[in-house]
Amino acid sequence: MRVRVASFAAVACATVVTVVSAGCGSGGFTSEGSQGAGKQLFVQACGGCHVLADAGTAGTIGPNLDDAFAQARADGMTSATFAQVVAGQIRYPIAQTSTGEPGMPDADTTLPRCEDVEGDAFCVEDQDRAISDIAVYVGAVAGTGVTAERPTDGKTIFTTSCGSCHVLADAGTAGTVGPNLDQSRPSKELAVDRVTNGRGAMPAFKGSLDPAQIEAVAEYVATAAGR
Ligand code: HEC
Ligand code: HEC
Repeated sequence: MRVRVASFAAVACATVVTVVSAGCGSGGFTSEGSQGAGKQLFVQACGGCHVLADAGTAGTIGPNLDDAFAQARADGMTSATFAQVVAGQIRYPIAQTSTGEPGMPDADTTLPRCEDVEGDAFCVEDQDRAISDIAVYVGAVAGTGVTAERPTDGKTIFTTSCGSCHVLADAGTAGTVGPNLDQSRPSKELAVDRVTNGRGAMPAFKGSLDPAQIEAVAEYVATAAGR
C-alpha cells in the first residue's frame, strides 16, 4: 500500500507540474482546510464509493481509505502528506485505470460547482476550498485505527452510504446516479436485494454493511420513500 500511495503522489505531482505551474509540494491544497466541513463534504461527495471509518461511510467502488493509508501512517507518513495525496487524487484522479476498471470521476463530477448545477443537487460554491477541507479531514483521520461506531440507524446509514447516488427527501439527499427513491418507492425486499447484491452501477454492500445494517437501511427506505 505504501508503494501505491507513493505512486499516487507521483502522478498528482507530474500533473500539477505540467498543467499548472505550481510547485509539486503543495499538491494543490492549502493547510487551512476545515475538518468539520471536510467531513460533511466527504460524506456527500465521496462516501458512496469509499469506506472511511471516521465518517461512517461504506462505499465499495473505490478502495477502503483506512486500509489504503494505515500502513503508510504506521511507517511515519504525516497527516499533512496524506492531505496532499488526497487533494492530488481529487484533482487528478485516474479516470481510466490500466485494468479497464472504472476509476474515480474528476473533481467537476465529485464536487460540481454550483454555477454548473441546476435544481437542488449537491454542489459546492468554492471547489478549491472544498478540496482543501476534504483533504485536511481525510488526511487527519484515514488509517488512524479510530473507528466511529458503525451506524445502526437506517436513516444515518442512508445518509452516509446511499445519498450521494439517490434522491430521498426525508433524508435530505440529492444524488442522481441511481433512481429517485421518492419516485420509485421500492419495497423493503427489493431494497435488501439491491443493497446486498448491487446491480448495474449500484455496488454491492454485503462486504461493508453487516446484515443488521442492511435490514435497517432497507426498512428505512421502504418507509421513508415518497413521504
Ligand atoms: C464514483 C466513485 C468514486 C467517488 C465518488 C470518489 N472516488 Fe475516490 N476512488 C474511486 C476509485 C474507483 C478509485 C481507485 C481508482 C484510482 O486509483 O483512481 C479511487 C481512489 C481514491 C484514492 C486513492 C486511494 C489509494 O488506494 O491510494 C483516494 C485518496 C480517493 N479515491 C479519495 C476520494 C475522495 C476524497 C473523494 C470525494 C471527493 C472520492 N475519492 C470520490 C472511486 C470514487
Ligand atoms: C454509486 C451509486 C449508488 C450508491 C452508493 C447506492 N446506489 Fe442504489 N442504485 C444505484 C443505481 C445506478 C441503481 C439502479 C440499478 C439498476 O437497476 O440497474 C440503484 C438502485 C437502487 C434501488 C432500486 C430502486 C428501484 O426502484 O429500482 C434501491 C432500493 C437502492 N438502490 C437503494 C440503495 C441504498 C439503500 C443504498 C445505500 C446502502 C444505495 N442504493 C447506494 C446507485 C447507487
